[in-house]
Amino acid sequence: MPNTNAEKGDLAVNADEIRHIAVVGTGTIGISWAALFLANGFDVTATDVRPEAEAALRSGVDQTLPSLDRGGKTSRKGVLRFSASLEDCCRDADFVQENAIEREPEKVVLLSQIDAVARPDVVIASSTSAISITAIQKACTRPQRVVLGHPFNPPHLIPLVELAGGEQTEAWAIDLAERLYRRLGKATIRLNKEIYGHVANRLQAAIFREAIHLLESGVASAEDIDRAVTEGPGLRWALMGPFLTYHLAGGRNGIRGFMQQFAPLQQRLWAELGGPILDPALQALVVEAVDKAVAGRNVAEIAADRDRRLQALLIARSTPAQTEGAG
Ligand SMILES: NC(=O)c1ccc[n+]([C@@H]2O[C@H](COP(=O)([O-])OP(=O)(O)OC[C@H]3O[C@@H](n4cnc5c(N)ncnc54)[C@H](O)[C@@H]3O)[C@@H](O)[C@H]2O)c1
Repeated sequence: MPNTNAEKGDLAVNADEIRHIAVVGTGTIGISWAALFLANGFDVTATDVRPEAEAALRSGVDQTLPSLDRGGKTSRKGVLRFSASLEDCCRDADFVQENAIEREPEKVVLLSQIDAVARPDVVIASSTSAISITAIQKACTRPQRVVLGHPFNPPHLIPLVELAGGEQTEAWAIDLAERLYRRLGKATIRLNKEIYGHVANRLQAAIFREAIHLLESGVASAEDIDRAVTEGPGLRWALMGPFLTYHLAGGRNGIRGFMQQFAPLQQRLWAELGGPILDPALQALVVEAVDKAVAGRNVAEIAADRDRRLQALLIARSTPAQTEGAG
């Protein structure tokens, strides 16, 4: 049975005492985490192995910070430092967020290096999209403090963080990470057991698989398949997930009514779903279709537009749900 937070004895850091966060790996995800931590008043020391990483981090953070201030002003409340030395980065940190390259052998070595230099009371969270924490923690001397803290891109805006432990993780470490993420306004979910790709990416992958199947089968264009999501179920998905959505599909009797009425239809739909093979020919077909759909707009332009509209959506969604007194 894992230890609870109260049982962790002399391991003293508690989430409310965290002031200084180490960000290891400053690509897309590391920059976004760093901006979020800084905007929330944490001091950040970051490290990366790329020679140009510091300049990219500083300009990336400067570009990201304004989107974290609802008043439209840059809101850097913490201090940002960069060090090319992993030891220097992690030595004084109260929490470590690792966001380096997604390759298992490299992550295993890197996590053991972080473990060797971070204070023993410090939780190390990995942003890994698919590698298991059981694998990542295996070369650590203190594997009990290694957790999954998987954000959704872009972490500075999307609330979700998926939490999980590996076989050697102790419960207090997950509790602490969860409390820290909640201080940042994140919405956390906990996985009861590890699974490849965690939860949200698996759900996305299921939709993407069928989208590619529909494209490959010539049912609709990439633009129209995307539109079928953004103008249809995607709008509801920002408010309720699949279980609640289907609860409402069953009429007055909710999910019971749905099961009575639609279980056979659902089973038939599942049997009909495609299983595309992403061979070079299908990859080329998808690339061509997306190139046509974006019509020359570059990735940075589309991402900036997404972030602007995401902010508006998050503000609109913060209106409380009217679940009482309706009707
Ligand atoms: N991109 C996404 O949508 C997304 C979403 C959630 C989680 N993640 C996860 O976050 C992590 C980072 O992804 P990304 O998209 O930012 O990748 P990225 O390639 O943009 O950045 C990775 C960075 O890590 C650096 N790096 C590599 N080895 C290092 C080392 N030993 N020490 C320090 N820095 C090192 C690289 O130089 C690079 O700057 C991955 O584990 C990925 O699975 C990615």
